Order: sequence, then C-alpha cells, then structure tokens
Amino acid sequence: MQDLSLKNISIGFIGAGNMAVSLIKGLLSTGINPTNIWAADIDQEKLERLAADSKVNTTRSEDFAATTDVLVLAVKPQAMKNVCLQLTNEINGSKPLIISIAAGITTDNLAAWLGADSSIVRCMPNTPALIGKGASALFANSAVSDSQKQIAQEVMEAVGISVWIAAEADIDSVTAVSGSGPAYFFLFIEAIQKAAVDLGLSEELARQLSYHTALGAAELAIGSDDDIETLRKNVTSPGGTTEKAILAFEKGGLRELVADAVQAAQRRSIELGKN
Ligand SMILES: NC(=O)c1ccc[n+]([C@@H]2O[C@H](COP(=O)([O-])OP(=O)(O)OC[C@H]3O[C@@H](n4cnc5c(N)ncnc54)[C@H](OP(=O)(O)O)[C@@H]3O)[C@@H](O)[C@H]2O)c1
Repeated sequence: MQDLSLKNISIGFIGAGNMAVSLIKGLLSTGINPTNIWAADIDQEKLERLAADSKVNTTRSEDFAATTDVLVLAVKPQAMKNVCLQLTNEINGSKPLIISIAAGITTDNLAAWLGADSSIVRCMPNTPALIGKGASALFANSAVSDSQKQIAQEVMEAVGISVWIAAEADIDSVTAVSGSGPAYFFLFIEAIQKAAVDLGLSEELARQLSYHTALGAAELAIGSDDDIETLRKNVTSPGGTTEKAILAFEKGGLRELVADAVQAAQRRSIELGKN
C-alpha cells in the first residue's frame, strides 16, 4: 500500500463492541467519511444501533475484509483465533494492515493464523478511549511499512494519545501501567472519597471534590513544563498540611506498595499471554 492517508483509506472493524464503537466515533470526529468505514459483528442489534448512530456500513458478514486497507480486530481474545482463521482466505490477495487490540494475543499468534507475511500492529488501549482520552501503546511486526505505521498511529490517536514500543514484550509492562492503570486511579479516588466522608463531608461533596482534584492534577501535570516531583513539591509547603499527608503516605510505604502492585499486574499479563 502506498500513500496511505486516513482520509482516503477504508477501514474495517471485526467486532463492533465498546472499543470498536469508540474508535469509530473518534475516527468520524476527524472528518472521515462514514462510507469508508465497515463494521461486522455477530450481534445484529449492535450493528443496527451503530448504523443508526454513525451511518457507517454494517454487516454480519466479514466480506469487506477482502477490500479494506485496514482491518481492526476488536473481538475478545478468546474469539480471536477463529476470527483470524475465517479471515485468512479473504485477505490473502489484499493484504490489509491488521490492527489488533486484543489483550494477550501476540503478533506471532496472529501471523500464524492470518498468514506469515501479514502486516500486523498490536495495540494495548485503555478504557478512557471510550471518551477519547485513551493512552495506547503500539507494536509493529517487521512486515509493517512506515506509512502503515503512520496510519495505525492516526487510527489510535482518534481516541487519545498513542506511543510506539520497540519490543513486543513491553506490552506486558504497558498493560500493567496504562491498561490496568485507570483502576489504580479509581481506587485512589475511592479512598480519598471515603476519607472525605469520614471527615464529615457529604457523599456528593466528597465525590465532586475528589473527581475534580484528580482531573485538575492530571491536566495541570500534562500542561506543565515542570516534572511531577516539582509539581508535588510546589504544593507541599514546609510545615504545612500537604507535607503532613505526604509524610504519612511515605511512612506507610506507598511507593513500594505501588511498585509491588504494578509488578504483580505485569506478571499476570505475562501468565495470561502464555495461556
Ligand atoms: N474494553 C477495554 O477497556 C479494553 C482495553 C484494552 C483492550 N481491549 C480489547 O479490545 C477487544 C474488544 O473489547 P471490547 O470491550 O470492545 O469487547 P466487546 O464489547 O465484547 O466487543 C467485542 C464484539 O465482538 C463481537 N464478536 C464476537 N465474535 C465475533 C465474530 N466472530 N465476528 C464478529 N464479531 C464478533 C462480540 O459479540 P458478542 O458480544 O455477541 O460476543 C462483541 O460485540 C478485546 O480483545 C479486549 O481485550 C479492551
């Protein structure tokens, strides 16, 4: 494929669930013509909803796979092998760029099912992609060209930021950091909410203050030239209230606990990948 650009390519989705629908919405918001997007799913209701909401082409058959430039595989990992084996003949002549977002399925697995010379980008997105604020890491196998890499990046950037990793094994670390990461922040917000209620604030006040503090802190950090340690020190006056809280976190071993937790997630990702 030569001179690929998001505006002039066709993109097919196999699986039209949560992730695929957010990607499709993100792509449409970049100005892509809905007639250039195809989606297949075994669930007719999902397809009807998607067609009504977005005007993309929807179908229960995967025939479009033979003609689209890019195929996004967005089914659950356990369905991936069968889906790929069914696609092998369809894509034999067209050789589209494959983007897989399935957790735990390696590019070698995919190439074994789809054809050894398939151009495959493996991606680990996270749930904030559902609101266009995702963080995705991408790995390309050796058959992927530079222009295909560019396209894969643009597809994933329709729902947030994306970064490339050079070693596929790093996907397990990415899974432990950004894949599972939203839950870590939810847990922290949960704990702050509970502490706020224990201090006597109402549930509603605790919710609003904790959510917006997390949002404000993340946006402040993203927009700042200062590193995260400097930002923390900036709000930690010697002898002040924040210092007392930070000292309590440090005394309780928060940093070691976080490191242990992230390492446990990475180990589990490796185990699941082997299965
Ligand atoms: N959601 C996340 O936060 C997240 C994060 C990282 C990675 N991922 C990965 O993204 C992928 C999709 O996740 P999701 O949350 O979007 O899942 P989902 O909502 O369950 O979507 C998958 C869709 O594919 C359909 N499907 C199953 N077999 C099919 C087939 N043979 N042909 C066509 N469609 C088929 C499913 O139908 P049925 O429901 O009827 O089976 C479902 O509608 C997964 O592999 C997951 O590992 C998700």
